[in-house]
Amino acid sequence: MVHGAGVRPRELISAAAIAERVRQLGRQIDETLPPGPLTVIGVLRGAFVFMADLVRAIPREMTCDFLGVRSYGDATISSGVVEITSDLAAPIAGRQVLLVEDIADTGLTLRYLRELLAARGPASVQTCVLLSKPMLQQTPIAIDFLGFEAPDEFVVGYGLDAAQLYRNLPYIGVLPKG
Ligand code: IMP
Ligand code: MG
Repeated sequence: MVHGAGVRPRELISAAAIAERVRQLGRQIDETLPPGPLTVIGVLRGAFVFMADLVRAIPREMTCDFLGVRSYGDATISSGVVEITSDLAAPIAGRQVLLVEDIADTGLTLRYLRELLAARGPASVQTCVLLSKPMLQQTPIAIDFLGFEAPDEFVVGYGLDAAQLYRNLPYIGVLPKG
């Protein structure tokens, strides 16, 4: 089974482990957030697979929206520069917002987006991130709901890409070095 460039990534987190963790996150989010409707905002493109599963694990009234962001180009190191390529479809003033991101590496993207959303007058902004890299411990950035700690390696699959490939891999894996 090949999902890109003829290379099979080494499995790090299985599809079954992801599914179980996503179920737990959905329950935790529903139990933690005050009652009332949510606006769930996914960061494109990396979060689309995770968000699709996560929203089905949160049994409440919600609307879904997306922010298109480019932070990496096709390189595998953080540029620290965040560019909005596509904005939300609807205002979030007064809404309880859950921002969904695939991975926090330096945390720069998450911090920038949280501030961007907070400036639009929502009732609250919480963050749910699937993976967090060790580097993040150096950045003071709040992740309210976290799926897994990731190793300090470039990971792909379950929405995460390397040069746009591997997003459709059902598990999270690491590309062999070389
Ligand atoms: P940060 O701004 O350094 O936290 O980078 C966050 C963004 O970089 C994420 O939204 C991902 O799109 C991308 N990214 C960081 N690490 C990885 C990785 O290991 N695999 C795939 N994408 C990554
Ligand atoms: Mg991303």
